[in-house]
Amino acid sequence: MKKVLLLNGPNLNLLGTREPNQYGHTTLADVEALFTQAAQRLGFEAECFQSNWEGALLDKIHEYGRLYKTGEAVGAVFNPGAFTHTSIALQDAIKGVDGLPVIEVHVSNVHAREEFRHHSWVSPVAAGIVVGFGVDGYLLALEGLQRIHARTTL
Ligand code: DQA
Repeated sequence: MKKVLLLNGPNLNLLGTREPNQYGHTTLADVEALFTQAAQRLGFEAECFQSNWEGALLDKIHEYGRLYKTGEAVGAVFNPGAFTHTSIALQDAIKGVDGLPVIEVHVSNVHAREEFRHHSWVSPVAAGIVVGFGVDGYLLALEGLQRIHARTTL
């Protein structure tokens, strides 16, 4: 079964309790369970990984770049949290693995928030972007990834 990565960056381990008016009441564990079930229904095996450390996120992207090249993975759904707005290294990592489809997700509508959240270093190298749908965005992104996969394997 091909793998799909759910990757979450800094502070997303606090989903459910962190600023619920912005991010809702669903926990990361709930999101990961829903994502895993939805992935299974699409015929994929989900791996869920969260880190507050930029380097750990880079290592995961590199690993999935390798798995994508060998046909063992279909891509990644990625909420880079605040690193979205600061990390050139994340852009370089996604560029560097060359080909891995990454769907960028933001739970909140970052464009309706502070100006510093309007810029993303990840968007230019993302295969797609899902913003402002709450935690449903993770599942919408998974569906998008499945469509990209179906299109590229025709
Ligand atoms: C976020 C938006 C970012 O600006 C913020 O730093 C986060 C969460 C979102 O999911 O809406 O940590 O990525």
